[in-house]
Amino acid sequence: MDDASTIERDVTVKDVKITARDVQVYYGDNHAIKDVTVDILDKTVTAFIGPSGCGKSTFLRCLNRMNDTIPICRVEGNITLDGEDIYDKRVDPVQLRAKVGMVFQKPNPFPKSIYDNVAYGPRIHGLTRNRAELDAIVEKSLRRAALWDEVKDRLDAPGTGLSGGQQQRLCIARAVATSPEVLLMDEPCSALDPIATAQVEELIDELRARFAVVIVTHSMQQAARVSQRTAFFHLGSLVEYGETGQIFTNPRDPRTESYITGRIG
Ligand SMILES: Nc1ncnc2c1ncn2[C@@H]1O[C@H](COP(=O)(O)OP(=O)(O)OP(=O)(O)O)[C@@H](O)[C@H]1O
Ligand SMILES: [Mg+2]
Repeated sequence: MDDASTIERDVTVKDVKITARDVQVYYGDNHAIKDVTVDILDKTVTAFIGPSGCGKSTFLRCLNRMNDTIPICRVEGNITLDGEDIYDKRVDPVQLRAKVGMVFQKPNPFPKSIYDNVAYGPRIHGLTRNRAELDAIVEKSLRRAALWDEVKDRLDAPGTGLSGGQQQRLCIARAVATSPEVLLMDEPCSALDPIATAQVEELIDELRARFAVVIVTHSMQQAARVSQRTAFFHLGSLVEYGETGQIFTNPRDPRTESYITGRIG
């Protein structure tokens, strides 16, 4: 897409975490993502916005190969993480997803204890040597997800017994426990009340110091608050991509303007 390449001119290669080139996604005959080319920057929050059905979740799932799990889904084009082709046959999708973590719209804790939900990733990837180290990761991750104080006295209780908002923060804790390099979040706050939303937004801002964060959101206010870059999708295409301030105050494409002013979507 032309806009993305012109906007990215001033960005050095070092700042780019993920590149996507000419990405197409098909569900059977449905061409859901068309020719998407974009550079996702490190240590930056990137918001994906656009009307329902435009392909935000589909494109997000390309970035950690979650679409591999959908049998009718076919991905074409090239996507790299730190310059490495993530669709290369030698890449193990499970390892990839430890580096490129994901938080979904609907909280999906495992049917395990709160502790075991968070410890799961560090355990399967062998990130700790003993129980004390694992305890420390669990506590740190729950603190970062703004959940520790609410659950520290019942770490053995089932994760599924928490409230919706708490479950979502548990899923965020689970995702950050493996110290991912990129965190993909698909409408992570849609089940949260304003207080929990504010906590998660604060967390996203902290995560940006170390990770690339990509967040899908239907809230223009949220995109404006948390992101530095915004990508506007429409009917499977990336229409416009740039600095969040510019996209919201001075969009270049009339479709972007219509969407952010509430005329389409
Ligand atoms: N698992 C799937 N199987 C078949 N088609 C799908 C699947 N997921 C998405 N699609 C189709 O791909 C297109 C893009 O959907 P997607 O869920 O990516 O949109 P979205 O922008 O995330 O929408 P929303 O804002 O409603 O979440 C739609 O036409 C949708 O029907
Ligand atoms: Mg979606």
